[in-house]
Amino acid sequence: MENIKRNYYGSLSSLVYDQSKPPGTSIDGDIQFYTEELIQRDGIVLEAGVGNGRMAIPLLRKGFEVFGLDNSQEMLDLYKANLVKYNMKSNMLLGDLKDFKTDEKFDSIIMPNGSFCLINRDNIIDVLNNFKAHLNENGKMYLDLIFPTSFKAGTIHEFDFQLDNSEIINVKNKSISIDWITQKTYTELEYWYKNKSEIQPFSLWWYGVEEFTNILKELEFKNINHIINYNNLKILNLKTLTFIFEK
Ligand SMILES: C[S@@+](CC[C@H](N)C(=O)[O-])C[C@H]1O[C@@H](n2cnc3c(N)ncnc32)[C@H](O)[C@@H]1O
Repeated sequence: MENIKRNYYGSLSSLVYDQSKPPGTSIDGDIQFYTEELIQRDGIVLEAGVGNGRMAIPLLRKGFEVFGLDNSQEMLDLYKANLVKYNMKSNMLLGDLKDFKTDEKFDSIIMPNGSFCLINRDNIIDVLNNFKAHLNENGKMYLDLIFPTSFKAGTIHEFDFQLDNSEIINVKNKSISIDWITQKTYTELEYWYKNKSEIQPFSLWWYGVEEFTNILKELEFKNINHIINYNNLKILNLKTLTFIFEK
């Protein structure tokens, strides 16, 4: 076993992410939502936790300038490969959300697909303050929060994921526990490919609307709003809450 790092995307988990959600794969209409929001704004967009460029590459293709940040070299390598494939260019940085540094200032920071929920609760104030430090005056943040509405502790889901070259990665997804006090789920993902394996211990934190609004107010963010499921009324259950707020 290798790569036992909490909430880290190693080579096999990044590969499965890329092949199951290649650039342009919309999750409940999120790419359309972000495109329509960002079109009203100027300047550079930071995608925090850019991953393989699922969201960033369609934005680049629409003419936005996107800067990608991620703490997984494996994910950034896939982002680079996807940029070559789509003949696009983007600045990028390998770094952690809580202490990354760049001289660049952003007009918008986006964090789609629940990446924020991967951040250890103890670090969210540092992360939000670091975002603030990298925003221009009146810069805007879009941050998706997700909820464990269908999490069932004790369940195991095992499947063979077929790669584009027809090879198989066996994936075992074990939903271990849900802690209602600390608002956290714990899942263990195990990937097997040929003789190689990777374990991805995965915690996700969730936040109430009042609770998160108060955190943002304490940090003196302005114009705090939220929308549900990207305003897509066809989704009946709460899946994604996007907080939108300004420096
Ligand atoms: C769920 S994926 C989302 C990828 C992409 N934003 C999308 O919408 O498809 C989460 C990404 O956040 C990155 N990430 C998680 N924790 C991070 C951290 N502390 N610092 C930087 N990146 C992080 C992961 O490596 C991964 O690429």
